[in-house]
Amino acid sequence: MDKKILIALVFSFFLFQPTLAGFFRDDGIVNPPQFWQRFRNKDYLSTRPFYQWWYYSLEDYEKETTYIFAYSYSRCVNDMTNQGSYVFFGEVNRNSQDPHWQLISKYPLDEFKVNNDFNVSIANGKFKLEPISDSVIHLKGEIDDSSHVWFAQNIDKSTKITWDLTLERVQGWYGQSDLELEDDLVGEISWNTYAHDSQISGEIKINSKTIKIEKSPNFRIYGDMNWGDYFPHGNGKEMSWGWYNVIIPAENPEDDIAIIVGSGKTKTGTSLGIMTASFSNIKIGSERQGFRYVVGLDDTPGRSVLLATAGKNYKLYNFNVTRTNWIDITDDLGTSQIPLTQVVHIDSSKWVITLTCKSTPEMYNRLLFPTDGMVFSDWEALGVNVHVLIKEASGKVILDKVVNYGGLEFGYKSPIHF
Ligand SMILES: *[C@@H]1O[C@H](CO)[C@@H](O)[C@H](O)[C@H]1NC(C)=O
Ligand SMILES: *[C@@H]1O[C@H](CO)[C@@H](O)[C@H](O)[C@H]1NC(C)=O
Repeated sequence: MDKKILIALVFSFFLFQPTLAGFFRDDGIVNPPQFWQRFRNKDYLSTRPFYQWWYYSLEDYEKETTYIFAYSYSRCVNDMTNQGSYVFFGEVNRNSQDPHWQLISKYPLDEFKVNNDFNVSIANGKFKLEPISDSVIHLKGEIDDSSHVWFAQNIDKSTKITWDLTLERVQGWYGQSDLELEDDLVGEISWNTYAHDSQISGEIKINSKTIKIEKSPNFRIYGDMNWGDYFPHGNGKEMSWGWYNVIIPAENPEDDIAIIVGSGKTKTGTSLGIMTASFSNIKIGSERQGFRYVVGLDDTPGRSVLLATAGKNYKLYNFNVTRTNWIDITDDLGTSQIPLTQVVHIDSSKWVITLTCKSTPEMYNRLLFPTDGMVFSDWEALGVNVHVLIKEASGKVILDKVVNYGGLEFGYKSPIHF
């Protein structure tokens, strides 16, 4: 059967199932067990490219510095140039004049080994991602071989970086478990924020500098993962994704405030036209709520909400992102257009949320995703000014706070010379 017909059939099934049409049965999985963090190469078609990565963003609140790293896998089917296993490390230091840098190493794909769900080892154990339990993960890395450096920006290729860290989850969330079949078929990027607010301890070494990371409110780590066959496609910056992250640590991690939002728009090549899917988990101390909002035919005035979170006494009305203050941002790889200001609106009968995120160009790293025949890129700003405003539907303010350590992204298929 033609792939597109199959996809259209699956979506029709979705739309006309009385139990599914219009709402999700729950608001996602809180603290997902290891199974949902699994390596999914085998679940996907071997005739299409496939990528997967596990990404971490570690905040040192006192030093106003964010360290970011990722372990990734990229299998190609046509053009094998970018096939491989990549390890990324970068930093944004808000006290520095030239605050951002990144280094990416590449190893052959067969040096990526995985057992159990996601016990990953790359380059014979130089890089390790080892889940000890559902909520504890050991993260290790040793970048010390410049012959494997695939890309370096604002940093010397020969920089030695090691990390040995233990993550302990405070809050994680997966909002797409019941969409996995559709995701496999369409092949669009999937997202699991299984550890989006976690404690962290251990150390990072960058050349002769040692950074001690303590299990204290001065440090938190964000962990997520993505996988799929394709990146958002269609013409121009309209087909894009955005990511918004805020963790406000507390003395007792149970009291943390953690907000994660992702929203992406892509052409589907089916009768659903352009689709937008938005996901968010919001934890305010012991209270939390997940929000999931999937819209089809998003390119027409009579767009249809396919699925939205709803509970007994609770409904999600709207979920959108507005982007303004566009600039051209340029690096060695080319120029992209990015919005310096992004505002997330989530309107529900439980909470009404507005996140106003303001960034400046020097906060951005261009994250690179090498895949079949192209490199997709995504602009990530760290140390973003975020005004978090959360009200009850009655108008009563629950949280009104401005932080200067938010994270955001804007990604679309922008021209890139690699
Ligand atoms: C992870 O895999 C390694 C082999 O690469 C093994 O030595 C280790 O025991 C595994 N850890 C767990 C928790 O399964
Ligand atoms: C976004 O959602 C908010 C809250 O429901 C609404 O006021 C606003 O009009 C929406 N914006 C767009 C562009 O749809």
